[in-house]
Amino acid sequence: MERWCCVVAASLLLLGLVAGEPVKYQDCGSESGKLLVVDVSPCPSLPCKLIKEKTYDVNVTFVSLTDSVSSKAEVRGILAGVPIPFNLPNDDGCQSGIRCPIRKNQKCNYINTLLIKSMYPSIKLEVEWMLKDDKGKKIFCWIIPVEISS
Ligand SMILES: *[C@@H]1O[C@H](CO)[C@@H](O)[C@H](O)[C@H]1NC(C)=O
Repeated sequence: MERWCCVVAASLLLLGLVAGEPVKYQDCGSESGKLLVVDVSPCPSLPCKLIKEKTYDVNVTFVSLTDSVSSKAEVRGILAGVPIPFNLPNDDGCQSGIRCPIRKNQKCNYINTLLIKSMYPSIKLEVEWMLKDDKGKKIFCWIIPVEISS
């Protein structure tokens, strides 16, 4: 019984159900900022298994290396090397957890949720998520592999 409890506790920890889930990302050229943590939840392992009609929490911790009044998010799916634009319901970073204006050396959290619509195809692809500053430079840019399924 005791051992069983330990196994369950360990599994919960491994699944990341207990705390936030930092995912291993690829930096796709953050220029005017520095990525610290990319948290996608729930996503216990890569590729992130994204189930249709479910929502996923995204929490990106980064440091800005520039002053910027605005910030704009852009998301793309990359399928066999071909980028497909993805329309975020709200692409304003300043309405997504970031206190604006952004100051140089300020640590920020970009918070968003992603709803996987039933119309999306069931495919494996990469998701590229970036945040751009006033000058259109990337404050952050990360890529993670995902797999969409029903
Ligand atoms: C985002 O992540 C940071 C650092 O891990 C944490 O302090 C913060 O509470 C998180 N915010 C949300 C809304 O999950």
